[in-house]
Amino acid sequence: MNSLFTQGYLKPITQDDIPDIWKERDDPELSASRFEHYWNEEAKKPNPSLLKVLLLSSKKPLLYGGILCLIENIFRFTGPLLLEQIVLFIADHEAPLWQGIVLCVALFLGLIIQVVCGHHHYYQVTTAGLQMESALLRSIFKKALAMSTSSVRKTTVGEIVNHQSVDYYPIFNLFRFINAVWAAPLQIIGIFSLLGRLNGVSTLGVLAFFAFFFPMLVFANKKAFDIEKQLMKLRDERTSTMNELLQGILVVKFFAWEDSFLKKINGTRSKEISLLKRGIMYIMFTNILWTVGPPLMSGCVFLIYLTDHKFLPSEVAFATIALINNLTIPLTNFPIFIGNFLQATVSLTRLTKFLSGEDLDPASVQSRSENGLVRIKNATFAWEDTNVLSDIDITFKKGHLTAVVGEVGSGKSSLIQAILGEMHKVSGSVEVNGSVAYVSQQPWLLNATLRDNVLFGKPYEEERYNRTIEMSELLADLKMLPGADLTEIG
Ligand SMILES: Nc1ncnc2c1ncn2[C@@H]1O[C@H](COP(=O)(O)OP(=O)(O)OP(=O)(O)O)[C@@H](O)[C@H]1O
Ligand SMILES: [Mg+2]
Repeated sequence: MNSLFTQGYLKPITQDDIPDIWKERDDPELSASRFEHYWNEEAKKPNPSLLKVLLLSSKKPLLYGGILCLIENIFRFTGPLLLEQIVLFIADHEAPLWQGIVLCVALFLGLIIQVVCGHHHYYQVTTAGLQMESALLRSIFKKALAMSTSSVRKTTVGEIVNHQSVDYYPIFNLFRFINAVWAAPLQIIGIFSLLGRLNGVSTLGVLAFFAFFFPMLVFANKKAFDIEKQLMKLRDERTSTMNELLQGILVVKFFAWEDSFLKKINGTRSKEISLLKRGIMYIMFTNILWTVGPPLMSGCVFLIYLTDHKFLPSEVAFATIALINNLTIPLTNFPIFIGNFLQATVSLTRLTKFLSGEDLDPASVQSRSENGLVRIKNATFAWEDTNVLSDIDITFKKGHLTAVVGEVGSGKSSLIQAILGEMHKVSGSVEVNGSVAYVSQQPWLLNATLRDNVLFGKPYEEERYNRTIEMSELLADLKMLPGADLTEIG
């Protein structure tokens, strides 16, 4: 990173100057394959735990992060303890100078270690979060392509879109604060025991503050969690309606249904916004509590201390304020962790259900038939539980053009889907040879040039391309288009 800063100082940075990712650790392919390995094992269990799989597949950065977090937390106590000693040193006019210097250097070094470890801890856990994010996104995408028809029926397009655009985020956030689960209680215990040593029973002032505010915090967090659950549902609903609208935009325009669709989408959106506002109010409420908390807590402690002792020594006052300020970190991080955990639980449950859904059987179509043959033997195919094609026995020969004729809904498209392996095969066998090209009843075009749609990602070889255009009788159509095969379509 440092050399990049120097380069940036000398000249504007371009894409080529950005260093490559650290292959072994940051390569999304690797983290995704680690995740898939653990998930495939876990998915065999009756109640698979996605959280466990995520923890296992990012165990390295999580472990490093955990160790750094422990060191950071140990050094958090050096500040208040040394501050107490420094105040005592200042008050003691006979203490030698070197003692003061040693104390100041120790305070400085303690802070440096704490800050360096703290930042590297966040770097490690953020890396773990990003690894999981890329692995999850890839698995969701793969799953969406491999789902069986019965799984497709159980989810909506809106849900799948939200799995990819919303659900991963709370999980990423959970990883960033994951060490708070043990570090926060540890810090709280440490700080309370030090406060107890300094203030004796007056430490109970902090507890008095908590007894009053804690139920409010729990209430606000619970409300925020409920709102998050409702928001997820509304987001699915809105994305589904949006999707319907975009898919049928021609019909909607033709019949001038824009207004009614707009009303429907705006209805869901305004519900979503009012919920969001309410959620933010609860989050703000907790934030305010944490901001006013420390001065109030110090006030409570000093008040009790003064009624008991009549005099508050400065070393006790300074160290207490420093300790109570430190207390805000675990007290802020722990509710953030709980909030993230609750939000992530909603997303984890949704994703576990989605990822555990049934897949199409990749072995339903075998590629062992003789050259060019497509053969279906005594096969029965079903959509979900209904057999649509029963006892089918056909062979399509190489070099023959076959037309399948039948009434509407008689199963013509289903027959093609069966050959593609998209239907559930109840019995029998399907054999194909080589690759299969499928032109569906509903065309699907890329929003790109006609040429890009023909090439569909393949490199442009002029001769082969021209031959394809000629053989598919497209020449006459191209002549009619203003930009020939470079016309934008889709
Ligand atoms: N993806 C699907 N999921 C569940 N059922 C389906 C699915 N596709 C088709 N079906 C059902 O299978 C039966 C046959 O439909 P199919 O679309 O194969 O008929 P088709 O002969 O192609 O009709 P068309 O002439 O309208 O194209 C119908 O009852 C239909 O409802
Ligand atoms: Mg059809």
